[in-house]
Amino acid sequence: MTILSNYSLEDCNTFGIAAKAERFGIIQAEQDLFSLDFEDNIRVLGGGSNLLLPDSVEGLVLKNEIKGIEIVAEDDTSVLVEIGGGENWHEFVMWAVEHNYGGVENLSLIPGTVGAAPIQNIGAYGVELKDIFEGLNAYLFDEFGEEAFTPEDCRFGYRDSIFKRELKGKVCITRVYLRLQKAPHKVNVSYGAISKTLEERGISEPSIKDVSDAVIAIRQSKLPDPKEIGNSGSFFKNPEIPQAEFDALLQKFPNAPSYPLPNEMVKVPAGWLIDQCGFKGVRYGNTGCYKNQALVLVNYGGATGKEVYDFSEKVLQTVLEKFGIQLEREVNVW
Ligand code: EPU
Repeated sequence: MTILSNYSLEDCNTFGIAAKAERFGIIQAEQDLFSLDFEDNIRVLGGGSNLLLPDSVEGLVLKNEIKGIEIVAEDDTSVLVEIGGGENWHEFVMWAVEHNYGGVENLSLIPGTVGAAPIQNIGAYGVELKDIFEGLNAYLFDEFGEEAFTPEDCRFGYRDSIFKRELKGKVCITRVYLRLQKAPHKVNVSYGAISKTLEERGISEPSIKDVSDAVIAIRQSKLPDPKEIGNSGSFFKNPEIPQAEFDALLQKFPNAPSYPLPNEMVKVPAGWLIDQCGFKGVRYGNTGCYKNQALVLVNYGGATGKEVYDFSEKVLQTVLEKFGIQLEREVNVW
């Protein structure tokens, strides 16, 4: 593997932050990991789509470009697919839809790589990665070897896994195993925006392609295309608060939206909280909140990581003062 010095990461992160890596290399196969010398400071980059970078990144940045999509087991109703961690997530979803394998159509157009998907247990429109996940292989830098992880090992939660906690920065996810369904499919159109879009299109018995097309249309209408405006999708998680706390909030804000959770908890859309604070569509220097979705922080061009981080701090503080709710960042801050 060739290691480059002082490498620009500007094209390697969807926020478009002009960061530099002290050293940078590309992993094309597991062998590249096995041949690495001991190194203290390694960070793995996938599609760079859930990431906020500082101006300079010390140590070695490795970009995962391990490729391959292969059916490794099959029965009457499903296939087990092995996917290289460096495959583009959306291209994999398009492969599944073309081959008429169901399960990932609701996750169309999510930026990033397949290897990054388990790290934050990607989710959208009623489906999460963990719903179809069977396992993964990861190279552990501290142990100089590869290990297989079961779904339980990954400890998935809402936009969360062991790879954001104990194993943060300690692994490179090389292969992911997902179970996809053969036709006839049971599509998930429970999310309001999907059923509404399908209805508008006059589709009453949607195929997985119809669902994928609807999700793509919804995402394109709400979320900025990183090729046009730098961003990392939702910047914060939707906070989960006790029902009693939410009831008190309703006294002051009767229109507050929420989603019920088990154990007397509710999820409040962070986008709504931020919107209520007046940030939606407002620009602060080179950064700000996107005009169609306040939860998405954007880089209008030339923003530094610090500028975006400082603005996110301002958003956190303002939401805390107005609602008494502490938001948590969803993006990984390096
Ligand atoms: N809302 C506002 N103003 C805004 C944005 C949202 O009032 O500016 C309110 C609306 O009431 C809306 C509600 O918030 O009904 C929810 O908004 P939306 O349907 O856009 O979903 P979200 O909760 O903001 C989550 C995920 C997205 C995912 C969508 C669809 C998180 C942090 N975000 O957003 O995931 O695509 O649901 O399932 O859970 C991501 O993780 O990067 C991401 C984009």
